[in-house]
Amino acid sequence: MNFQPEIIAWYLNNKRELPWRNTSDAYIIWLSEIILQQTRVEQGLPYFNRFLAAFPTVQDFAAATESEVLKLWEGLGYYSRGRNMLHTARAVMELHGGIFPTAYDTLIQLKGIGDYTAAAISSFAANESRAVLDGNVFRVLARYYGMDTPINSPAGKKVFSALADELVQGQDASIYNQAIMEFGALQCKPKSPLCESCPLRPDCFAYNHQQVHLLPMKLKP
Ligand code: ADE
Repeated sequence: MNFQPEIIAWYLNNKRELPWRNTSDAYIIWLSEIILQQTRVEQGLPYFNRFLAAFPTVQDFAAATESEVLKLWEGLGYYSRGRNMLHTARAVMELHGGIFPTAYDTLIQLKGIGDYTAAAISSFAANESRAVLDGNVFRVLARYYGMDTPINSPAGKKVFSALADELVQGQDASIYNQAIMEFGALQCKPKSPLCESCPLRPDCFAYNHQQVHLLPMKLKP
């Protein structure tokens, strides 16, 4: 088997049950992705549940006050995320009639939504063929394909984006994107990757060249 089917097969057998995975509601996916920026799943999960209970729809979110939002956000850090969310919820009411957009090109224009988040929402909610590129994806690709360009260099962004875009073509983007991120989080971990139980090991460049601990490469900031 090649890369994408192996990753997807692994995912279907190993994925965590997470509440934002059982929906194609772009608002709910947006809520989860903003909370999970710079935040671990275990820490973000209770916040996600509290936010969704307080604001079940984007209309409810848009009608909140800033102090309500920041109160719910307490403890998560990076409070600009909470403020941007309120701004964006109101923009969705004004510009999109309360329908949370699912198209990458529309999403990318909203405050607090960058390339990663627009790719995540458009692929998870609408199956748009957009590759997500986060730390997990960089690591999996660098190791499996033996890519030694530093991931935090302009050249690295370019080559990894090009490969990620190519790999998502022809796939079910909502499943494949979740799968590669989950694989990076649970199997191809940064410090102690589980190579001995890894189904991709036979074709993994880093494993076969004793470079797992060296990849991905990063320039000193
Ligand atoms: N981290 C960021 N987005 C995530 C997602 N959709 N599922 C699990 N972890 C994530």
